[in-house]
Amino acid sequence: MDKYVINGGRRLSGEVTISGAKNAAVAILPAAILAEAPCVIENLPNISDVSVLLEVLSIMGAKIRTINKSSIEIDPTRITNPYVPYELAKKMRASYYFLGALLAKHKQAAVPMPGGCDLGVRPIDQHLKGFRSLGAEDSIDDGFIHVKANELMGTQIYFDTVSVGATINVMLAAVKAKGLTIIENAAKEPHVVDLANFLNSIGADVFGAGTDVIKIHGVDSLGGATYSIIPDQIESGTYMVATAATGGDVVIKNVIPKHLEVLTFKLEKIGADIEVFDESLRVRSQGNITKTSIKTMPHPGFPTDMQPQMTALLTLAEGTSMITDNVWDNRFKYVDELRRMGADISVDGKVAVVEGKGSLKGAPVKATDLRAGAALVIAGLAAQGVTEIEDIYHIERGYEDIVVKLRSLGADIKKIHVPEEAIKKAL
Ligand code: EPZ
Repeated sequence: MDKYVINGGRRLSGEVTISGAKNAAVAILPAAILAEAPCVIENLPNISDVSVLLEVLSIMGAKIRTINKSSIEIDPTRITNPYVPYELAKKMRASYYFLGALLAKHKQAAVPMPGGCDLGVRPIDQHLKGFRSLGAEDSIDDGFIHVKANELMGTQIYFDTVSVGATINVMLAAVKAKGLTIIENAAKEPHVVDLANFLNSIGADVFGAGTDVIKIHGVDSLGGATYSIIPDQIESGTYMVATAATGGDVVIKNVIPKHLEVLTFKLEKIGADIEVFDESLRVRSQGNITKTSIKTMPHPGFPTDMQPQMTALLTLAEGTSMITDNVWDNRFKYVDELRRMGADISVDGKVAVVEGKGSLKGAPVKATDLRAGAALVIAGLAAQGVTEIEDIYHIERGYEDIVVKLRSLGADIKKIHVPEEAIKKAL
């Protein structure tokens, strides 16, 4: 078992470069099977979710060539085995994007029910509603979702709820459908736009991504392309919050400031000083954070994926803050871990009330999911004393080189390996 050991209380300072966006990468890699020529994908984050998808692509028969740490070439032209193994699919939610991509490519797909972060109920009814509207049939057998269609026909689809996953999956399925597909009440997240841009770069005709109406004119064939993934909005935000939490001064490079506007506004309001440049941000803080209220919403609202990190920050503020998660019904599991560090937080359904005390104390804690893990890292960096974080595999699903990046900013953090025998002996 690996864990992070953080000796907290050090200001972060210096420069950090943000990697490619996880949630764009996990859509673009399955989308690459639609190409009919090799694709070069650049600015790919080196994280475990990406490794899992590359393994799935290899098993399917795609040829993957590593160009450098953040660029690969995928040749999907010889895919012979359109099958997503359960052992890999269970590790991540985004494996279900192969449903849309395989449906478009082979008119059928079987993908295991997806894994991923446990954030409460995660239905896929809107994905299936979209596939059915396009003319596909679906069933669930032995834990696999099966979809198939004789022909996919363009249509108008109105999502009952704004869903990133359903928007992406239906976009993928519709790219080669006959005629025009109109998705209404579509998600507007930057990764939805990035996927649309990738699809257009290989010859698709997707219009309107980034608004709540996306129009897709089906095309008969698609080519290949070289495409660079956008910077990770949530990784950027995590370093912004970590800087604010430690009273630091950090230049965060390779960001799209527009994607971070709502967070920038919030952090400025509670005491951080933020300078915005074309592709970077400088965050400065004296550590004197004030209380606030946060309500998460689909983009362009406050991102739910920054909610745990902000909660960690607000435990360091003086006064009472209120955090409402309007996207997920159970995204406060990590609160018990912050309580071990001295935080005073009560949770009632989708609302957490943080009684900020101005400080935290190091403690042994466990990452309960990806962003919860990021929140614990931030708490550990700001706390007095030593914090040991277990189950860091959650964190490494989505943060490239987090230890190296934080150490370069002056943090005292290391990753250690605890042999299984030592754990058994201690029990
Ligand atoms: C994506 O998950 C992200 N994952 C999540 O990021 C993120 O929290 C979420 O969008 C919201 O922004 C990826 O992009 C891989 P949704 P997704 O479908 O697509 C309900 C992270 O930390 N819903 O937008 O699974 C659902 O229950 C991860 O990086 C339905 O009711 O989220 C939820 O309440 C965690 N029916 C809401 O919609 C459906 O068919 C939003 O879910 C689908 C969703």
